Amino acid sequence: MKIGFQKLALPNKGAIVVGVMDGGTLLPLGAALDDQLGGLLSRAMKAHKFTGKENKTLSVFGDTGTVLLYGLGDGNKIDELWSENAGGSIVGEILGTGDKEVSVLFEPHGADGAADDSAAARAARLAFGGLLRTYRFDKYKTKQKKEDLPVLQKLTILTDPATEAKKAFAGLEAVADGVFMARDLVSEPANVLYPTSYTKRIEELSELGVKIEVLDEKQMTKLGMGALLGVGQGSERESRMVIMRWDGGPKKQQPIAFVGKGVCFDTGGISLKPAGGMEDMKWDMGGSATVVGLMKALAGRKAKANVIGVVGLVENMPDGNAQRPGDVVTSMSGQTIEIINTDAEGRLVLADALWYTQDRFKPQFMVDLATLTGAMMVALGQINCGFFANNDELAGKLEAASKTAGEKIWRMPLGEEYNKMMDSDIADMKNAGARWGGSITAACFLERFVNDLPWVHMDIAGMAWSSKASSTVPKGGTGWGVRLLNELVQANYES
Ligand code: BES
Ligand code: MN
Ligand code: ZN
Repeated sequence: MKIGFQKLALPNKGAIVVGVMDGGTLLPLGAALDDQLGGLLSRAMKAHKFTGKENKTLSVFGDTGTVLLYGLGDGNKIDELWSENAGGSIVGEILGTGDKEVSVLFEPHGADGAADDSAAARAARLAFGGLLRTYRFDKYKTKQKKEDLPVLQKLTILTDPATEAKKAFAGLEAVADGVFMARDLVSEPANVLYPTSYTKRIEELSELGVKIEVLDEKQMTKLGMGALLGVGQGSERESRMVIMRWDGGPKKQQPIAFVGKGVCFDTGGISLKPAGGMEDMKWDMGGSATVVGLMKALAGRKAKANVIGVVGLVENMPDGNAQRPGDVVTSMSGQTIEIINTDAEGRLVLADALWYTQDRFKPQFMVDLATLTGAMMVALGQINCGFFANNDELAGKLEAASKTAGEKIWRMPLGEEYNKMMDSDIADMKNAGARWGGSITAACFLERFVNDLPWVHMDIAGMAWSSKASSTVPKGGTGWGVRLLNELVQANYES
């Protein structure tokens, strides 16, 4: 879908979106359109008892095409995030009407009707929300009928000043590209996306100026990454670690780092998972997809920051060479791990990826993302992402970014009582503890691979995939976290 910004005036073709305030009040251009249509909008509102309640919609079909009335309520809640969600809902509606073009009358709604400073940012976020909603993953559908495909081609925001809104949107368009890439990666089946083919997809980011390095099994063996390699050992597919660098900041500035779990398929290994729902484990690389999507977003908008992305790519399979429960592996850190459950594999991958990242890059902080535990879905469902932090300042920045970006997070505890549950009788630690508090003990395991630097672990098990659409996220792979982490970088780490 193409996105444009033009100055505020009644359009002469396509669908039109008109804001309606509480009590069914139209803003000046909306009222002019109503006049032009001989009072059709007023009559429709009355007949359908549409009073402009927040986020309620009413489609009216006149001689000139669809008019979508959109409830603004009393206008007090309209901020950037509200606008983004409204943009998503509007596009969701228009995808159903069959219009090829839609224009949104973005009229000042303040008490005195005056334009305010943040209007450009809100208009841009509206377009961003609309764009995010158009995502589809239908490359494997060979029998789609033409009439079932979406026809919407253009979204125009009519706003003053249009040039400023357009400028604000440029960066957001890059973020949407990053979100879409993450969604694509998460949606791909595991026979298509495995460590080496995934590596090729990541290498495409070099076109945007991202520097890519790939570690193969030989190199990882040399580095002593026994934890990660043990996971991939039962698979025909070779494991990889991919390092992405975006150097957009001052030369000598310490980088910031994002690390992702990229288990391309998680059968559980010898501790095999049950058959029901196992297909979901194609998206067990969701954490890595968010990191890749984030790097794409940052490079796409030429972020003025030095950022490292590291992803550990493996496939967790049970074959004759697979790792067994009871095995002991040595991680790159030198610490030994007794494998209790081969299905607790994500932490093993991250143990070496985190260690490698801090050891080589000495970053200002590390944030890791992983579809790590089913227990996190039990705790927080699919609304909030549970996160753990060893540093209150970084946690605070992340919480602030979450409010701006609209991706919800909830802080979970770490602590010595939980940590010691991961002690092993025969090695430095074990990879699985008791059932209770499973997300927390997993986080404590990871913490053992983080030295003295600010670190956040985000368990996105409940976030990477959604079975129902929201305003800006169609069902399927969500690309969750790209927007949030882009905001974290933009608000705090760009010079
Ligand atoms: N990838 C799974 C976690 C998961 C489950 C993510 C469902 C998304 C949806 C992870 O590797 C796993 O299997 N975790 C185990 C850990 C346990 C064996 C300690 C779990 O959560 O049961
Ligand atoms: Mn597992
Ligand atoms: Zn897993």
